[in-house]
Amino acid sequence: MNSSQASQASHAPYVIAPSILSADFTRLGQEVKDVIDAGANWIHFDVMDNHYVPNLSFGPMICEAIKPIAKTANLVPIPIDVHLMVQPVDNLASSFAKAGANLISFHPDASAHVHRSIQVIKSLGCQVGLAFNPAEPLSVLDWVIEELDLILIMSVNPGFGGQSFIPSALKKIEDVRQRINACGKAIRLEVDGGIKADNVRAIAEAGADTFVAGSAIFGQANYKEVIQDFHRQLNA
Ligand code: DX5
Ligand code: ZN
Repeated sequence: MNSSQASQASHAPYVIAPSILSADFTRLGQEVKDVIDAGANWIHFDVMDNHYVPNLSFGPMICEAIKPIAKTANLVPIPIDVHLMVQPVDNLASSFAKAGANLISFHPDASAHVHRSIQVIKSLGCQVGLAFNPAEPLSVLDWVIEELDLILIMSVNPGFGGQSFIPSALKKIEDVRQRINACGKAIRLEVDGGIKADNVRAIAEAGADTFVAGSAIFGQANYKEVIQDFHRQLNA
């Protein structure tokens, strides 16, 4: 069995996680509601500090503001998936846990003590993820994979929405899928950057089960159509 067949055999239900980095900030609350009504499974929340990445986005106060509306019309909570592109990690991670984050991912190269940062996030009741830039090796997973709930593979260099998918990410996703299967724990494999309806299938076949999309969704007139198109491609 090759890795793609293995991933198809064992993947968790697919999750679509729209990144509100590409939302219209003048009406952020309505954008969050609209994308949830359109079928978003998670809200992806990109935190940039103008230090670890060359851009500045939003902080825990905005997370706290959207927390009460992060639910479906039937009041089913929608997880807030915080992607920290910040250095250092621990203090801001704590602030986001208090602001209502459900999952918090950070970049291992942004933390002086990766194992400690993982424990900080878990101790605050959040699920924890590690995020890997396109040129970042996966070797830290040798030591911490069993501690994780999620592995996030960046398929663009972090800092901006609307960039093109970097093809070498597919090989990395296959590598991570093998590591997750070998570990045996239910760990989500999330991919972030340049995901569109026309490449989501290949990304899933490489082993991903969780898909971040910013410009592909918020750039369109009908969010529901885009999310349905993603599912059509994934289930074709
Ligand atoms: C990049 C962010 C991504 C980004 C995705 O630093 O982590 O979440 O907003 O945007 P698109 O889907 O437009 O590439
Ligand atoms: Zn992100």
